[in-house]
Amino acid sequence: MSETGFVGEPIVVASPNVEYSKNEIISRYEYRESRVNGNIVTPLNENLTFKTQRKIPKTGVLLVGWGGNNGTTLTAGILANKLKTTWMTKEGEQHANFLGSICRSVTMRIGIDNNLQPVYAPLFGVIPMLNPTDLDIWGWDISNMSIANAMVRARVFDYDLQRKLYPELKDMIPWPSVYSEDFIAANQSERANNIIHGTKQEQLQTLRQNIRDFKQSRGIENVIVLWTANTERYAELREGLNDTADNLLRSIEADASEIAPSTLFAVASILEGCTYINGSPQNTFIPGVIELSERHQVLIAGDDFKTGQTKIKTVLCDFLINSGLKLASVVSYNHLGNNDGKNLSAPKTFRSKEISKSGVIDDVIRANRLIYGENEHPDHCVVIKYVPYVGDSKRAMDEYTSEIFMGGRNTIVLHNTCEDSLLAAPIILDLILLAELCTRVQIKRTQDEEFSRMHPVLSILSFLLKSPQVPSGSPIVHSLFNQRYSITNFIRALVGLPPETFMLLEHKIP
Ligand code: NAI
Repeated sequence: MSETGFVGEPIVVASPNVEYSKNEIISRYEYRESRVNGNIVTPLNENLTFKTQRKIPKTGVLLVGWGGNNGTTLTAGILANKLKTTWMTKEGEQHANFLGSICRSVTMRIGIDNNLQPVYAPLFGVIPMLNPTDLDIWGWDISNMSIANAMVRARVFDYDLQRKLYPELKDMIPWPSVYSEDFIAANQSERANNIIHGTKQEQLQTLRQNIRDFKQSRGIENVIVLWTANTERYAELREGLNDTADNLLRSIEADASEIAPSTLFAVASILEGCTYINGSPQNTFIPGVIELSERHQVLIAGDDFKTGQTKIKTVLCDFLINSGLKLASVVSYNHLGNNDGKNLSAPKTFRSKEISKSGVIDDVIRANRLIYGENEHPDHCVVIKYVPYVGDSKRAMDEYTSEIFMGGRNTIVLHNTCEDSLLAAPIILDLILLAELCTRVQIKRTQDEEFSRMHPVLSILSFLLKSPQVPSGSPIVHSLFNQRYSITNFIRALVGLPPETFMLLEHKIP
């Protein structure tokens, strides 16, 4: 351990409740909750056993929308880290890094040392995690531009960095993709020159074949498919069309026009046994897709990457309301000039984003009926405008007005400027790394039970998503720090450590 209380080596938990074998970590864990009945609260303990496979399979990710700003930034960013690329800017020499990734750049407290001081370790030091530079990346795009040229088109990376990475990326040409003019903005049609033709069933077969080829040609054991293509409009939910897994598969066979491209990708991925992650706000996970994932026990996660404004919003709402202030109005303006902004300038795709951004303060309000009435909630308005000049550098302006003590008012105004894709890429990476970890975790309740995989709907990834999908009946948590501790406490559970309590009782008891 270093003098700063940091453990660089993988940690080993010495406890009778944890066994480390060559291939697995088995942890017996006491999960504590309380059951509430009227005003009677009964503490409950449940004994769970976690089994985590230590060997990380060769993993590949297939990006849908690979040639977009996020897809190229992620691909080129990982490559730069792999090659240890340096580049010059007017600020001097720059080095590749993974800032913004909780898996690579965040530590968690693991305990105290002999002087009762806290000790920290990186997440990947507590449980084996995929190293991003070992990840194989490929993907689909409706534009056939190479990833090198698409990186240049994105105007996200500095010129010198683009120049250094260009030769490595020039032969990466996305596979043709499923395109439907009806589901994204009409202004995207000019880049759609790389399309899989045929019926929906034929398109599905092509996507499945692509996934198989990727696996076979590179010896990949585990594939994750991730949607970072343009935001689609919401698909209609209709009985008989997409309400069950069987109806959905039948509708694909019947070439029903209301099946969105993203839904076809999700179905292909699930049928191939590959985890599917939705990074955009549309309702890809219609009931038929969720049922299909449960039937095949394939993990899914979504929706909509949580980058700047929403992250701050969940933190500020948590801070204000949990300080006892009555947040009364939240107004968010955004303008951006990248292709995502262009696509969102159409009302039907904007609506998907608006829905996704609107629900993020609900749970904090629901938890506090002392200051909010049963159906009361703050005014919440979201505006997004397309301003080409600012490119990927998104501007977000937020105003938070709260009622404070004895009739007072408090208004906080924020202005945030940031390269959108440089925030999104590390979040995409975390989604991949944590989803991969979840594929290696199994759980059982009693000793005689067989181990089973985690619930297919990965709510554990909520920290990274604006509008988290959760298992049916499970509450949606938006509060950012609760989401973060649900990840680190889960990792602690995998190695038999109790959840972080922050009580520091060793310093409070004389
Ligand atoms: P982008 O517009 O630069 O990239 C999207 C790519 O998807 C384009 O290359 C386009 O040709 C391709 N595409 C469109 N339809 C396709 C289809 N059916 N199949 C395959 N490719 C298709 O957008 P960007 O900035 O990379 O964002 C991607 C998605 O991530 C958007 O939906 C956006 O709303 C979402 N997102 C982005 C965040 C960010 O901070 N960058 C945050 C939250 C969500």
